[in-house]
Parts: sequence; structure tokens; C-alpha cells
Amino acid sequence: MMVNAGGFVDQIKDVMKMKHANNKVRYVKKPIKKKYRPHKKTKDPKVLRKLFDSCKEVFKGPGTVPPDSDVHKLCSILDKMRPKHVGLSKNMQFFKSESVVKGTPRVAYTTIYQCDEFSICIFFLPANAVIPLHNHPGMTVFSKLLVGRMHIKSYDWAVHPNSQHPMAMPPSSQLRLARLKADGVLTAPCETWVLYPTTGGNIHEFRAITPCAVLDVLGPPYSKEDDRDCSYYKDLPLSYGMNEEENTKSDHLRWLEEIEVPEKSEMDRIEYLGPQLIETTSL
Ligand SMILES: [Fe+2]
Repeated sequence: MMVNAGGFVDQIKDVMKMKHANNKVRYVKKPIKKKYRPHKKTKDPKVLRKLFDSCKEVFKGPGTVPPDSDVHKLCSILDKMRPKHVGLSKNMQFFKSESVVKGTPRVAYTTIYQCDEFSICIFFLPANAVIPLHNHPGMTVFSKLLVGRMHIKSYDWAVHPNSQHPMAMPPSSQLRLARLKADGVLTAPCETWVLYPTTGGNIHEFRAITPCAVLDVLGPPYSKEDDRDCSYYKDLPLSYGMNEEENTKSDHLRWLEEIEVPEKSEMDRIEYLGPQLIETTSL
């Protein structure tokens, strides 16, 4: 079976450019220009291929989490990945755009590959765009910021919902206690970060400071059928029902309230035109 077959040779001859118009972002093909060297047939597609082959080995499907050695293997590949390995360049117009888009800038995404065990995709965030606080149920996710600068905030659940711990008793049944895992700014190129089903900041939010591209590897992918749908949250301060001493000890704790799918979470899907993955399977 051929997946995403065809056009590979033609595509590496083209220079991929990103076009940003009407709040939408998409790859467009442009003829080769003097100063911009296209990806030589070279190692660039091989890096993506290596990532893909490793994902095939590492991800065993729903209900599994890769062991540390496999996590290290994927991180070592992703740490080396650069925009050119997926047909991008930080010199593309989209990433240079400093004009502020009116209203809420829309996020775009493209899927490089998806199967039952994992997916590889890229998210494009214009400056000031937000991917609101959302979870990754039962998933291990590797994220690599390829271009840009973004603020990331992430949480893990602080206590099991059935726990008898007093902190597991929220003032409202809509709330659940979460522990702040990360709250800071990342600038590309930076190391890969990894989240797990219950640790590493499984619930996170991205806020683009400059236009960004984030490469995500999700194992397994979201699936409504398999009960791995995406839920959204808003975080609330842990201010009421606690005395001062408790508050001091708990400055990294927040209530998270599940909310309806926010309007600003809608994304535009764009076609992936970077180096292709061609999979062959015997019948
Ligand atoms: Fe995410």
C-alpha cells in the first residue's frame, strides 16, 4: 500500500513557501530562486524517515507508554530536527509576519502521517494565537518547537478523582485540582518536551509570542471512538476555602474547570507538502 505516494521528487525540487492571507496559512510551491537552495536529495528526508521508522518501533498502541529508552531515542531524533526537515524555513513570510491579525488569529495544522498507533503533525500559530488549555488522554506526546517563541503552561492532575484526600474535594463538582508543571517561554531551537498520560504536563496551553511552528508526535492519536477525545479547561486560582498557610504551600495548585470547546480552538487544516513518507506493506 502506498501512503502519500507520488510527487516526492518534484516536491524536493520546489521551494516551499508559506502564504499568510485572510488569516489562513498554507504551503505554496514556488519556483527555485537563486538565493534559496532547495533541499538536496540528501539527508533532509532521511531525518523525517528516521523519526517515522522509530515511531513505528516505539509506539505499541492504545494503553501503552514507551519505556524511557524509547523516549530517549525519539527525543534524540527530534532534538536534531529543524524546519527544513519538514519543508519549512524560518525565512518564510508566515514566520516573518509581524502584523497583528485582527480578532483571534487562527491556528493551522497539517498531518504528516497518522495510523492507529501514532500521528506526526505540525501546528502553525500566528503571533498572539492560542491553543487553549487541553488534555491528551492516555497519550504520550513529543513536542518540538521548530520556529518561533511561545509561552507554554502545563498541568497534571494533582489527585485522583476518587481520592479521599481533602484536596480532592473541590468547591464545585466541575472543578478538579491540578498541579502546575510548566509556565514559561520557549524559543526555537530548543529541546523536545514530552508529556505522559499522568505526568509531564498532560494538560497544556500554547500562546504564540511570535509566529510559531510546533512538530507534535502523538502516541496514540486522539480518537473519539476510542474515548481519547480532546477536552478543554480553564484554570482558576486556588483562593477560596483555604487558610494562608495552605495557600503558601499550594501556590503551584489550581482548579481546572472543564469547558465547552472554545471557539478559538478551531483550526484550519492545510495540506502537508514537505518531504513525504512512503510506506510499503506486503500483501
Ligand atoms: Fe496539545
